[in-house]
Amino acid sequence: MDECKRIALVTRDCAGVNAAIRSVVRTASQQGIEVLGSLKGYDGLIDDRFVTMNHRFVSGIITQGGTILKTSRCARFYTSEGQRQAVQTLQKNNIDAVVVIGGNGSLKGANVLFNDYDIPVIGIPATIDNDVHGVDLSIGADTAVNVALDALNKIRDTATSLERIFVVEVMGRKCGWIALQVALAGGCEEVLIPERQYTVDHMVKEIQTGVKQGKRSWIVVVAEGAGNAPDVAKKISTGTGLETRVTVLGHIQRGGHPTAVDRVLATRLGNYAIRLLKDGKNGVYVHQNDGKQGYLPLADVVESKSLDLSDYYSLLKQLT
Ligand code: F6P
Repeated sequence: MDECKRIALVTRDCAGVNAAIRSVVRTASQQGIEVLGSLKGYDGLIDDRFVTMNHRFVSGIITQGGTILKTSRCARFYTSEGQRQAVQTLQKNNIDAVVVIGGNGSLKGANVLFNDYDIPVIGIPATIDNDVHGVDLSIGADTAVNVALDALNKIRDTATSLERIFVVEVMGRKCGWIALQVALAGGCEEVLIPERQYTVDHMVKEIQTGVKQGKRSWIVVVAEGAGNAPDVAKKISTGTGLETRVTVLGHIQRGGHPTAVDRVLATRLGNYAIRLLKDGKNGVYVHQNDGKQGYLPLADVVESKSLDLSDYYSLLKQLT
């Protein structure tokens, strides 16, 4: 790539993405790089819809959840026609490189641009699921866990007062990371995650044993990809004869003010991505593992990283 003068910025939404946008824009402008924000994720690339972003444009956004650029799950970008249109837009606007902030889907799109169309691209992992291969923590994951934990703490008050069983569903279609963090931090009795086989019959037996020992309330966390919370609750009620209630936390986990951990991570990764681009590096996504910044090839992005969460799970059960 010749000297990088102008980049496009494509984003998904989760807490901390705006902090990353701010860092990208301000670092880029200090390096003499102009940033065009793509409106609505990959849709903006296809439809040639950009907003010019400068230092002032990103004032005050570090505290905000979501993405100020708006986003979409862009079905057209999965087609070669959509991809070609996006590449034409990039060429028409003299864009030298693209920065993509998002989860596995967005980063796979980034790899298509890089690998199939020779566009210089850098990815920044941002997903509440924390399931990007080779990345300790993605932007948004810490906030999601803290939001879910706050809700769980409140649910516990009722679970204890009324001696009920609560089944709480958290996000994570392919990955149980949020569920396990929340369950461990919330002192829960059980957690169902896609990475681990379970039977409700076994859980019913555990609850019956607990009842005999005088235990009166339970909180079971279910990752959305591991089962349907109302079904799980119904089976528990039928098996134990005890009252259950269900709470599905849903998208509250993806929004909200980012935690300090997410803001700092996003700020560092945004800055690092632009410094790499300026040094002529691309075709990679950045991370901060063991406190140190580094990068991996975009080709390494997978559907969802497989986590060995067995240690966490054993600890949860040990302390129940
Ligand atoms: O990947 C992030 C995530 O929030 C998942 O946890 C969840 O399964 C999915 O996105 C929900 O997607 P949508 O907002 O498109 O319904």
